[in-house]
Amino acid sequence: MSKFAIIGCGFVADLYMGSFRTMPEAEIVGVYDLDHARLKTFCDHWNLKAMESREALFEALPEGGIVLNLTNPDAHFAVSSAALEAGFHVYSEKPLATRMDDARALHALAGEKGLLLASAPCSVLGETAQTLARAVRKGVAGTPRLVYAELDDGFISQAPYDKWTSESGAPWPAEDEFRVGCTLEHAGYYLTWLMAMFGPVKTVVAASATVVPGKVPGEETAPDVSIATLFFEGGMVARLTCTIVAPHDHQIRVVGDKGTLAVKEAWNNAAPVKFHRRFTLRRRLVDMPVGRKVRLDTKETHPKVGRWGAASMNFALGPMEMLQALTEGRDCRLSADFALHLNEVTLAIQGAGAHSGAQEMTTRCELMEPMPWAG
Ligand SMILES: NC(=O)c1ccc[n+]([C@@H]2O[C@H](COP(=O)([O-])OP(=O)(O)OC[C@H]3O[C@@H](n4cnc5c(N)ncnc54)[C@H](O)[C@@H]3O)[C@@H](O)[C@H]2O)c1
Repeated sequence: MSKFAIIGCGFVADLYMGSFRTMPEAEIVGVYDLDHARLKTFCDHWNLKAMESREALFEALPEGGIVLNLTNPDAHFAVSSAALEAGFHVYSEKPLATRMDDARALHALAGEKGLLLASAPCSVLGETAQTLARAVRKGVAGTPRLVYAELDDGFISQAPYDKWTSESGAPWPAEDEFRVGCTLEHAGYYLTWLMAMFGPVKTVVAASATVVPGKVPGEETAPDVSIATLFFEGGMVARLTCTIVAPHDHQIRVVGDKGTLAVKEAWNNAAPVKFHRRFTLRRRLVDMPVGRKVRLDTKETHPKVGRWGAASMNFALGPMEMLQALTEGRDCRLSADFALHLNEVTLAIQGAGAHSGAQEMTTRCELMEPMPWAG
């Protein structure tokens, strides 16, 4: 039986539990949250054991267990450090840490202790991302030359977000989201896919800005717009856009010599991957307007979850892959190196401002192994 402990049971914790429903082999030994009322509501809803302190939770988790750090980004470093110090593997919600020094310290601590450390998002392990990566590997669109990836969420500050609640009733933490910023919150959804397909980023040339002030009264919040050009070590170039201002657009397009591979939804593990072949028609150059669906060789991939709010992603894919890695005595696909590099690139984009110029990355990660069913 696989053992997990949860720290932080707000909005996203319900999405994890909805995902764990599809993987009944996972056992959650207990939950802890600083907010005791929230802890009780969550544990009553999911029939889980509420622990009175973090120490009590660590007592209850057997050796070799995994701590799921689902706290707010500002608490990630302290909670993950404590879990690693206590001898547990850690799967953290994104970002690994809000400061690069802290992320490096976590990476070093996990290394010293011989523990696994991973950070979300895990949609890169899902069917759509794996299908896209396989199509790139197989050269479906010829040699890839350029990627455009958009994570535009619409003009969120005008959305009725006070009506957004999770299954057990946690409010969507709007102020925290605005303080942390859409780049730290969301860039990883496509950065992970890009890193899995093209390896580490060598240079980031980016700009970021806050174009809608006043989202949290009396406070200057994090950038709500970032636009990055990413130069990968292997030569690929990608543009990544992240905003909570521009109209909703979650497309990723990989442009190759023979046409374009396109996905329209980042947050749906089952979104179709389409190939739009390029051809000439008399004097015109045309990308086929209706794409051909690209498929894997198998339909046996992973359990899917229904849509809640904006997402239909299985949040348990990452934790369960970590568990599988432990069983097989190998590193997990969302490795500590991968998490650290993701953190560095994300912070470089978020912090770019108006004048950062080219930022050379100092961390590296291996090209990710495909999931066994997507080879
Ligand atoms: N809201 C979403 O749609 C969403 C989606 C995907 C990922 N995430 C990520 O999930 C994480 C949590 O976000 P959320 O939306 O659930 O936030 P939330 O505010 O709803 O929940 C966070 C919970 O963590 C608890 N907490 C904070 N510090 C703690 C500590 N030191 N010890 C114990 N408990 C602590 C808080 O009391 C709160 O209940 C963030 O990293 C966020 O980026 C959120």
